[in-house]
Amino acid sequence: MASVEFRSVTKSFGSFNAVSDVSFSIGDGEFVCLLGPSGCGKTTSLRMIAGLETPTLGQVLIGGQDVTHYHPKDRQISMVFQDYALYPHMNLADNIAYPLKVRGKSVSERHGRAREVADVLKIGHLLDRLPSQISGGQQQRTSLARALVYPSQVYLFDEPLSNLDAKLRLEARGFLNHLQRDMGMTAVYVTHDQAEAMALATRIAVMDQGRIVQYASPIEIYRLPATTFVANFVGNPPMNLVEVEASHGNGSLQLRADGLSIAPLPMTDVIGKALATSSKLTLGVRPEHLHIAQGSAPNTITAALFANENMGPESLVTVDRADAGRVTARIFTDDHLQLGETVTLAFSPEHVHLFNSKGDRIPAAGE
Ligand SMILES: Nc1ncnc2c1ncn2[C@@H]1O[C@H](COP(=O)(O)OP(=O)(O)O)[C@@H](O)[C@H]1O
Ligand SMILES: [Mg+2]
Repeated sequence: MASVEFRSVTKSFGSFNAVSDVSFSIGDGEFVCLLGPSGCGKTTSLRMIAGLETPTLGQVLIGGQDVTHYHPKDRQISMVFQDYALYPHMNLADNIAYPLKVRGKSVSERHGRAREVADVLKIGHLLDRLPSQISGGQQQRTSLARALVYPSQVYLFDEPLSNLDAKLRLEARGFLNHLQRDMGMTAVYVTHDQAEAMALATRIAVMDQGRIVQYASPIEIYRLPATTFVANFVGNPPMNLVEVEASHGNGSLQLRADGLSIAPLPMTDVIGKALATSSKLTLGVRPEHLHIAQGSAPNTITAALFANENMGPESLVTVDRADAGRVTARIFTDDHLQLGETVTLAFSPEHVHLFNSKGDRIPAAGE
């Protein structure tokens, strides 16, 4: 296993920067997820670690060694692709053993090792089959087995679960989590699925338009999102974001928006700096930090009920603030709400996130 580092890496395709001046380091034994919407540069970043793309600028290091211009085969990496990339004419045993074959290992070693890995992944009984004769979940495990059959310094995954149905995806996610904690592998895992990143990663790099906007542990990303983009990308449903007009006096901050009632918050220097640029701030509250309150009270958002979706253990209650957008609460009580009825959602001040007019987090006092 080995560490991975990007030093000011840029990858351009013509005049377009798919990856812009990205720097990060991944410790030995870490499982880092590159998380972001389609087209933000995740696969391009992964391919630069693998050596399938060469950076336009900057360096890639594996195990402290500059491998920017190394051929993929000289990097000791394994990669699991989104479409599994199995050889259709080879049975599973040969597919799994392929990395050993290209390294000139004997037939008996190849077969022994392929069986071992296949047994761990519970596909040992399928070794004679062709990829077309097994299910999508089994194909996914075959491509995983092929990546694991030969010890690598770094394991790379490009959305390996995205072709599985929801149930299999959850099962495979749990399996990968177990495997990583068990093997202590260094892994870089690309996904656009925030739940997958939260479940698997030791650290998440949230990407937007070729840049890393936040690189932190899942819990920090969730609790202290650095920008409104991160707040909106992580969490299901995502954090509610409400545009507010701010004013201050006598050491307290007053926020105003239609349907919002909020007690004054303590004023800080950082808030003062943000307000010097613009009096428009964004208030964020996570759906799970909202509950239904009766009547008008401070620290509430009041609007007409738009939807009430019963999810089993919880309901998603959404109110419509017209032009100001919708707000969704995760409610764990059983309420009988009528469409269009006025609903008041309450929150505690300690669950309020504030962002400046550029969308950057304003740290709370003591944060
Ligand atoms: N070989 C290429 N030539 C031109 N543009 C590319 C190439 N590869 C990727 N891109 C562009 O770079 C951006 C990032 O792509 P990619 O890394 O595949 O994103 P992601 O994996 O996050 O969806 C996209 O706009 C994509 O169209
Ligand atoms: Mg991709």
